[in-house]
Amino acid sequence: MKHIVILSGAGMSAESGINTFRDADGLWEGHDVMEVASPEGFLKNPDLVYDFYNQRRKQLLEVHPNEGHLLLAALEQEYQISIITQNVDDLHERAGSTNVLHLHGELRKARSTKNENYVIGWDEDLTQVNLDPNGHPLRPHIVWFGEAVPMLDEAVNIVTKADLVLIIGTSLQVYPAASLYQFAPNNIPVFYIDPKPAAGIPSNIHLITKGASDGLKEFKEQLKSLEF
Ligand code: APR
Repeated sequence: MKHIVILSGAGMSAESGINTFRDADGLWEGHDVMEVASPEGFLKNPDLVYDFYNQRRKQLLEVHPNEGHLLLAALEQEYQISIITQNVDDLHERAGSTNVLHLHGELRKARSTKNENYVIGWDEDLTQVNLDPNGHPLRPHIVWFGEAVPMLDEAVNIVTKADLVLIIGTSLQVYPAASLYQFAPNNIPVFYIDPKPAAGIPSNIHLITKGASDGLKEFKEQLKSLEF
């Protein structure tokens, strides 16, 4: 089976009703991103940060995978699919995708502030009173700006084994995630679905300037006649 590697970003979940980060004046749900998505922001105002992710988690439990997520899950019938997502939602999994790596963490998990390897499932509100077994506070299991990306090596390894790479719904502004496609083997097809694709991407990338669902329908059509 040919191996397709999907690199998804916030645009993948836009049609499910989850706002992207950079489509709204640099604010994320009304907040300066550094206030709610950096270790400094968490130190300065932990309650704000807990509350912010509590709201995001609640919202996630109310929304559903969109047609794009479902189309991707269906691709597993014909191809080996690896999804590497920057998204912290679980909509790929809920659509039925079985092989999903979360580069930037997961909303429905919490982790110890002292031991990054202590990670547990968490669907309730999280506050400073929730502790790990050693008495250290838990925090959202999210990779914030300035923090290492623990899953990066694994992600690079997956991309090096791709027969085709498909980028969906990311502004390609945040590194190292934005550089992942560059680890693909030379000369394999690379597609990019986004209604407003990032400027300056290499000319050999096949652009599909559409939203995720319509773009995936077009991608599937093109796939039929593609030799790779
Ligand atoms: N379908 C596909 N793409 C869409 C849609 C849609 N319906 N609507 C918007 N987009 C595109 C936008 O054109 C934009 O290029 O989704 C992209 C979203 O870009 P960002 O908001 O920058 O999201 P992303 O690239 O995933 O951000 C990366 O930044 O804040 C951090 O850690 C956070 O993982 C996140 C990272």
